Amino acid sequence: MLSSLHDLPEPASRPGSGHLQDWAARPLALIEEGATQALAAGQDLFRLRLGLPAVVGLSPAWNRRVLTDLNTFVSAGSFSAVVPYLAGGVILTDAPGHGARRRALNPGFGKGSVQQLRERMRQASSPVPTGRFNALAWADETVRRQLNAAYFASEFDDRLLAAFLAPLRRPFPVPALPRPLLFRRVEQEIRRLAERRLREGGDDLLSTLAPLPGGLLETRISLAAAHDTTTHALAYAVWELAKAPQDQTPHTHSAVLKEVLRLYPPGWMGSRRLSRAAEWQGTEIPRGTLALYSPYLTGRDPTLWERPLDFRPERWEKSPPAWAYLPFGGGERTCLGVHLAQTLILDVLAELPPLQAHWGNDEPHPGITLGPRGPLVVERR
Ligand code: HEM
Repeated sequence: MLSSLHDLPEPASRPGSGHLQDWAARPLALIEEGATQALAAGQDLFRLRLGLPAVVGLSPAWNRRVLTDLNTFVSAGSFSAVVPYLAGGVILTDAPGHGARRRALNPGFGKGSVQQLRERMRQASSPVPTGRFNALAWADETVRRQLNAAYFASEFDDRLLAAFLAPLRRPFPVPALPRPLLFRRVEQEIRRLAERRLREGGDDLLSTLAPLPGGLLETRISLAAAHDTTTHALAYAVWELAKAPQDQTPHTHSAVLKEVLRLYPPGWMGSRRLSRAAEWQGTEIPRGTLALYSPYLTGRDPTLWERPLDFRPERWEKSPPAWAYLPFGGGERTCLGVHLAQTLILDVLAELPPLQAHWGNDEPHPGITLGPRGPLVVERR
């Protein structure tokens, strides 16, 4: 006989509100406690009560199931659906339509296309300030400028782009509030540039997105998905290099970035809803349950990683087990911008002057994406 969600381990809860209050105030501590409880019980799944039933899994097998059984684990009704920035386009399209949509979008974001955007992104990079500066604020600006270059040949109004992206990194509920006026201005700007691309052609991302059905929406949605994720990964990578200047050779940058994405994955929690009941290792998970997978928990699981909390780029001399490392998700829904993000970050790191960490707060701070609480003050040597 199958057991029910009630039999799963769970972190301590509060009378009346279940886990909601802790989810809002200290989500990382909450899920870490859940993971500890699950591992202690010999399980890979724990339950949360967030106003609706939810389960969080941590094993590679669970990640694989959530990311490949696309008919059961759907995006409709997930966390993305309540954040207007992410609620639409490919992010909220489920099987069977999702595959076709990705096939239309993939070529523009593939390795070959990103190569062609590289020089333009590099030129748009913000100069590294002299003296002391906050690497988090600098990463934020350089990523915005480079995305403007990649998407719009730097023709998008930079102040409007900054205003559009700013609420994303504010605490909840700010990113979830509707912003019809701001979104309309952004859409008008995208449309103005898209019409020009359709008339005159071009070689930026907008030129490949504009002719696609829903291409203007995909432009707005993917920009929102691109910015803070890439900013946070870049800021952490700059900080780690400044803490250990001996690692500042292009040869080690790729391992440093992998290690950053293992310990501080900007996409720290992926969410889906169950479109139908499913069974997981003897437990019946009812239809409608929120199903979460966590690159953060899996990346720190002591059963998968040796001394998981140590920052050790050397560990990347060996490959991790399948589905144990998923900072860009996996399967058909793997991050659309994986090549763009990695190329942008590694190119910035390759051109960094020698830096020394001065002071900062690198504690991971979970919002829509996870990033350093900041500031991260570094000094040009
Ligand atoms: C270091 C930077 C980035 C990280 C860590 C990251 C992480 C992720 C993750 C974990 C997912 C899967 C989410 C899920 O399973 O629910 C995802 C999906 C996605 N990402 Fe990224 N991302 C990054 C950069 C970008 C960039 C630059 C773009 C711009 C195109 C982008 C666009 C998207 C889109 C559109 C999806 C949804 C794909 C789908 O559902 O088919 N991301 N990303």
